[in-house]
Amino acid sequence: MGENVAIAATGVGKAFPVGKQSVTALRDVSLALPAGTLTALTGPSGSGKSTLLHLIAGLERVDSGSLEVLGSQIHSCTSAELTALRLREIGFVHQDFSLLADLTLIENVRLPLEAMGTARSAATAAGREAMSRVGLEGLEQRFPAEVSGGQQQRAAIARAIVGNRTLVLADEPTGSLDSRTGAEIMGVLSQLRDEGVTVVLSTHNPANLSHADHVAVLHDGTLHSFDAAEAGTA
Ligand SMILES: Nc1ncnc2c1ncn2[C@@H]1O[C@H](COP(=O)(O)OP(=O)(O)OP(=O)(O)O)[C@@H](O)[C@H]1O
Ligand SMILES: [Mg+2]
Repeated sequence: MGENVAIAATGVGKAFPVGKQSVTALRDVSLALPAGTLTALTGPSGSGKSTLLHLIAGLERVDSGSLEVLGSQIHSCTSAELTALRLREIGFVHQDFSLLADLTLIENVRLPLEAMGTARSAATAAGREAMSRVGLEGLEQRFPAEVSGGQQQRAAIARAIVGNRTLVLADEPTGSLDSRTGAEIMGVLSQLRDEGVTVVLSTHNPANLSHADHVAVLHDGTLHSFDAAEAGTA
């Protein structure tokens, strides 16, 4: 494994219990993502995109295989180690945003930094910068219920990129956005990649694939293809 590999999955499998049955979400997925690249996961609904992102984030545990993320063998990390890794290095944009309703947007965005012990003033400054990067300047004091779905999605992205993240994982980050705002968000994620951040996102939108260095296609929980993105489709 090259030392600039940010994520290495080897034979990863994951199933979920549903009643007495078990639903296979991923089977035998192997891939290696170089640090500082942008990878798009695509494939039909239910193909395993969110599951793979959750495993990489340490939000779920692999059932089989091994998964190395930022130098940690996360299949054998303790919960405390996973939490620490996430807090320090990983930003995650949930498919359903997961903003806290009782907190304003700036309070939501600066939360990961405060959880790390960053002083309130520094966390607020970094939070404002992240919000401005995603076009949310002026909405810092609004609550999630007081902004549009697309603005909530952008706030979730701001929370994932606040501070110095090494790895940003984004589950359908443009799903609730019009095509222009979606393109702007892809621009923000590409810029992070240019700054050396490793970015992995899931998307149904073919237009987003032109921003990716690699495209991984999932079908029914298996990796159907993993390629360098086609040049010249932007
Ligand atoms: N918590 C869960 N419990 C039971 N089954 C689950 C759970 N999470 C995912 N699955 C199942 O695992 C498979 C993969 O789901 P996943 O959410 O990863 O797909 P996806 O590619 O993200 O789909 P979408 O494009 O709709 O977001 C599906 O069959 C799904 O029903
Ligand atoms: Mg999903």
